[in-house]
Amino acid sequence: MENTLNFIKEKINDFVPDIALVLGSGLGSFTDGIEGIEIPYSSIEGFPTSNVLGHKGSLFFCKMFEKNLVIMQGRFHYYEGNSMQNIAFPIKVFKKLGVNKIILTNAAGGLHKNFAPGDLMLIKDHINCMGTNPLIGKNDDFMGERFPDMSEVYSKKLRKTALECAKENGIQLIEGVYAATTGPSYETPSEVKMLRLMGADAVGMSTVPEAIVANWCKMEVLGLSLISNYASGVIDAKLNHNEVLEAGKVASGKIAVLLNSIISQI
Ligand code: HPA
Repeated sequence: MENTLNFIKEKINDFVPDIALVLGSGLGSFTDGIEGIEIPYSSIEGFPTSNVLGHKGSLFFCKMFEKNLVIMQGRFHYYEGNSMQNIAFPIKVFKKLGVNKIILTNAAGGLHKNFAPGDLMLIKDHINCMGTNPLIGKNDDFMGERFPDMSEVYSKKLRKTALECAKENGIQLIEGVYAATTGPSYETPSEVKMLRLMGADAVGMSTVPEAIVANWCKMEVLGLSLISNYASGVIDAKLNHNEVLEAGKVASGKIAVLLNSIISQI
């Protein structure tokens, strides 16, 4: 951790990020045209290299609306073979660099017919169906508690702001529950039915580990899902990853408007 922090601090000088933004599938173009300092994951000790189609693989430090940001262009997924500790690491690094708020974005399958591809969901809570937890192992008591409370992982205050920003910009934003599975296979129709019965509204393969770690180390968390497809069995169609990426590209303008507005307000 110390080596990683020293390496990053050397690159960013006295820049102290306050907000972290994690860009999900197909949202990589958010930073296009913004000036900043880019550090490839491959050069950072402790960071695995992200190599999933549609993900860039670098940290981007920049200023937006007078706010100091660190943006993860591509995240680490469990299905790539990354350990939960690998996935937790960047979040801990962000905290140690000064980050207090984190915005997690992802692409997710909608579990209801009334969620159409291209819709946006504001995560109000999650269900961890990954069968593991990024906090397993020795606890760093300086960063967070052994048994952290999870009653408000997704900050009410930030959610209120996000809903206001959506309204101001004429963007439909519906609150819902995000369920995370390990992937990489998509769900069966029966699993989708189970997730719906459990109270989930969208399903994806990320975000929950990062949210658990961020909540543990006392960051305010905001989660946004781009509904990229109807989950398996919701309509009669097969799923493929290209469809997920395409939906990301199509909706990227809308998400960019919303993210800009949220960043300017928090
Ligand atoms: N299921 C799981 N993860 C996903 C989906 C899905 O339908 N769409 C995008 N990520």
